[in-house]
Amino acid sequence: MTVLYDTIGRGYGALRRPDQRIKRRLFDALGDASSVINVGAGAGSYEPNDRPVVAVDRSLTMIQQRGRKAAPVIQARAESLPFSDGTFAAAMAILTIHHWSNLSFGLRELRRVARERVVILTRDPAASSFWLTEYFPELIEVDQQTFPSMATLEQELGPIDVYTLPIPHDCRDGFTGAYWRRPAAYLDRRIRSAMSTFTKLNRLQPGLDRLRQDLSSGAWQKKYGGVLKQAEMPLGYRLVVSASQ
Ligand SMILES: C[S@@+](CC[C@H](N)C(=O)[O-])C[C@H]1O[C@@H](n2cnc3c(N)ncnc32)[C@H](O)[C@@H]1O
Repeated sequence: MTVLYDTIGRGYGALRRPDQRIKRRLFDALGDASSVINVGAGAGSYEPNDRPVVAVDRSLTMIQQRGRKAAPVIQARAESLPFSDGTFAAAMAILTIHHWSNLSFGLRELRRVARERVVILTRDPAASSFWLTEYFPELIEVDQQTFPSMATLEQELGPIDVYTLPIPHDCRDGFTGAYWRRPAAYLDRRIRSAMSTFTKLNRLQPGLDRLRQDLSSGAWQKKYGGVLKQAEMPLGYRLVVSASQ
């Protein structure tokens, strides 16, 4: 079966490298959980290496990009995890739940296989957007259609704690918001290729042309130059933690 990341996932590992500041926040959220399942694990970013971890991903292209020292991996779907109840202390799902074909089933599976806690990194579609949407207004709609609301997550998981995750200006992990202080990066096809959101836009070229023009005329700097002084930006990314009562 061909899945999205079999197509867009090539070269992913080189562009979506773990960012240490995000990693620290994730590890805090995982706490002292003695074993972890990483669902939608991709190339293995953010997997702890101080305790047993098992990774799951549905895309072979992504699995093949895992390093030699990465945790053992199983090709499977989040919606149907091949583990019995409570096999792991914790489950983590990093920037993946918006790709699942059945969110409810996937979240139920995370709760089922994790005894203590579920830790999710996602984007809150209700959060305000940043300057990129001036050039690609479709991003707002795509985000709203793609990412579940915090209320939906609470409905599915029960009580959750939601933490804001500001994105550092030099974030190493090249997801869509990562280059908010490096605007020219969005003109680079290779960089965009690791951002699934861009594959969903119907009108890409007009936005690219305008951004290129505004950067070379100084119009971008005039309007948005203020962001260049900021060290981090709250772009709507959230750490969601569901702990067993
Ligand atoms: C944006 S990548 C994130 C990968 C990794 N968690 C990271 O932070 O780098 C999304 C991943 O979710 C995987 N994925 C998408 N749908 C899935 C599903 N239903 N079950 C398991 N993995 C899935 C994709 O193959 C891809 O590797």
